[in-house]
Amino acid sequence: MIDRDEPRPPTTVAAALERATTRLEGSGVEEPRLNAELLLSCLLGCDRGGLFVRRPDILAEDVLGPFESAVVRRANREPLQYITGFQEFHGVDIAVDSRVLIPRPETEGLVDAVLSLELPGEARVLDLGTGSGCIPIALGVKRPGWRLSALEASADTRAAAESNVARVDRDHPGLLKRVEVVGGDFARPPAEWRGAFDAVVSNPPYVTELEWHGLEPEVRDWEPKQALVPGPSGLEAYEALIPAAARLLRPGGFLLLEIGYGQADPVRKIATEAGYEEIAVQDDLRGIPRVVIARSPAA
Ligand SMILES: C[S@@+](CC[C@H](N)C(=O)[O-])C[C@H]1O[C@@H](n2cnc3c(N)ncnc32)[C@H](O)[C@@H]1O
Repeated sequence: MIDRDEPRPPTTVAAALERATTRLEGSGVEEPRLNAELLLSCLLGCDRGGLFVRRPDILAEDVLGPFESAVVRRANREPLQYITGFQEFHGVDIAVDSRVLIPRPETEGLVDAVLSLELPGEARVLDLGTGSGCIPIALGVKRPGWRLSALEASADTRAAAESNVARVDRDHPGLLKRVEVVGGDFARPPAEWRGAFDAVVSNPPYVTELEWHGLEPEVRDWEPKQALVPGPSGLEAYEALIPAAARLLRPGGFLLLEIGYGQADPVRKIATEAGYEEIAVQDDLRGIPRVVIARSPAA
């Protein structure tokens, strides 16, 4: 029988990392050593370089216990970011948990595309399907004159976005006043938003049902399915939100959408049929078409 009160033998940083790496490797986690180091450095409040210096140090029980729990969670294929609680996005720390999609690097490109537009200093910008709130937060931090609105269907997700805005406001005072998070369906946005926005941006769910089954466990088993899959074709969200956004934009306003692999042509077609003009597609850093930009007709 295991005596649970018996203290464990002293464990050095090096030994704890070694053991965790073996455990994570056996569970199929990619880059197991890196994952072990990120989990431990998060608990110790140091960077990975700091771990190297501390290799011979004995880990205190109040760090070793939480580290072992974190390794068990990661071995269960829970995403690293849900365990550490944060993902950096466009230079801002965004709190994440299982209520929200973990912000992706591709979406930083969508934010860059919005920032590169010539919009008024006091532009109004809307994010459809805001998730963690990463897009309006990044835009609000970079453009202190803009007013941001964010729409989200899930009440739990919306609460997470609101708490992110409030938390980032502590470092960027005034953000809370400029970012509103609203509950609702992007197919039926609030009537008072009609013609109100200089730009509408969205990274909607775009994974097909079939693709979702083949995703790695970290995504398929842990991230919210409604953030990933809009329906069997993967195009359902675009079909709903592209015509809806046309009614929300000012004449000549911009629509910017993140798209998945192979979706440039069908999304372009949906935008054309909804009356948009000047439709263009931008590649991501890997050369994959990733952002569709279109304009509502000028008055
Ligand atoms: C791909 S996630 C994007 C989240 C965040 N913008 C990001 O880039 O990390 C899509 C988000 O849209 C929300 N969503 C899905 N269908 C929606 C709908 N019909 N109306 C509003 N939001 C919706 C999901 O709950 C999810 O938070």
